[in-house]
Amino acid sequence: ELQPVLLSGGSGTRLWPLSREAYPKQFLALAGDDTMLQATWRRVEAIATRAPLVVANEAHRFLVAEQLRVIGAPTPRIVLEPVGRNTAPAIAAAALIARADPQHAQDDPLLLVLPSDHVVRDPEAFRRAVLAAVPAADAGALVTFGIVPQSPETGFGYIQADAAQAGTGDGVRRVLRFVEKPDAATAQRYLDEGGYFWNSGMFLFRASRFLAELANYRPDILDAARAACEHLDPDGEFLRLDKAAFSVSPSESIDYAVMEKTDAAMVLPVDIGWNDVGSWSALWDVSEQDGDGNAHHGDVIAIDTRNSYAYARRLVALVGVDDLVVVETDDAVLVAAKDKVQDVKQVVARLKADQ
Ligand code: GDD
Ligand code: MG
Repeated sequence: ELQPVLLSGGSGTRLWPLSREAYPKQFLALAGDDTMLQATWRRVEAIATRAPLVVANEAHRFLVAEQLRVIGAPTPRIVLEPVGRNTAPAIAAAALIARADPQHAQDDPLLLVLPSDHVVRDPEAFRRAVLAAVPAADAGALVTFGIVPQSPETGFGYIQADAAQAGTGDGVRRVLRFVEKPDAATAQRYLDEGGYFWNSGMFLFRASRFLAELANYRPDILDAARAACEHLDPDGEFLRLDKAAFSVSPSESIDYAVMEKTDAAMVLPVDIGWNDVGSWSALWDVSEQDGDGNAHHGDVIAIDTRNSYAYARRLVALVGVDDLVVVETDDAVLVAAKDKVQDVKQVVARLKADQ
């Protein structure tokens, strides 16, 4: 049994002003006609054996339900978090719920954990990779999908992989070391050394196996998730976690809580056109560019302009500018140098402080 778990709790502040707390990037159609949440389900639909299990913030419940409905996804179960506690408790809740699913006799499915805000340009290669990782996950591994690193990015987990393939075949290798978000100097050292991959943030493991590892390393998180699932308040397709119980959980990602510590991690290096669209320049990267390296969304005229990205609700014209990002929405306009777009989150911080 293959149970996709779609994580939809992020707020994507670096894609301001399009991505907002009330409408974060997974709900936007930034790369194609589908929203990123919709694309995430479509990517795995053909290999999934269960309807999607989504973990999302309570405030986004109708967005999630509606976006999956319009693409004809089978009725999802949508686990609602009263507060965000990062990915370890979110995945723990999903694992507990998947183990006690009245619709399925098999109570220990493989969980395919997927961020709902990434771009994968070769979904066929991705599906092949997931299926290739099944034997290792069946045998008890926590499998991650590794991306060949391009630069010393500090926003990713770094995985040192064993040079030799594990016995299960199909390219899966043991993880020697998992380091979440190293500093820039360390990341550069890993690149120079070689043999490291970026963690794509997608995982495949048995529900029971993840819960056992969590029990071992972070019983406090597991206890809180379990308590929050005890008084599940079902409301149609929505499953509401108990607020008081879930709030007690520490806020921690799966990467720190389990992946850095476990001995059971394996990595499958993949070449699937992966991009986590963490900034406007990343979106420019994955968008179709014209001969001058410009990528546009909406009505844009570019004259004597190179390597720029524009997102337009109204008509936007660029004249004689290079390496620029222009994003205009109904209530805000962003004009940024393309190599400074990481700092957009400072705008969001300033707005919050001024509120
Ligand atoms: N349901 C739920 N609840 N989902 C959440 C929560 C939460 O509290 N927090 C984050 N998510 C979702 C996000 O929407 C995203 O899809 C995914 O979980 C990962 O969270 P991020 O906040 O985007 O993590 P990150 O980008 O800093 O780091 C992770 O992803 C990198 C690759 O993009 C780590 O796994 C890194 O190791 C990895 O390299
Ligand atoms: Mg991310």
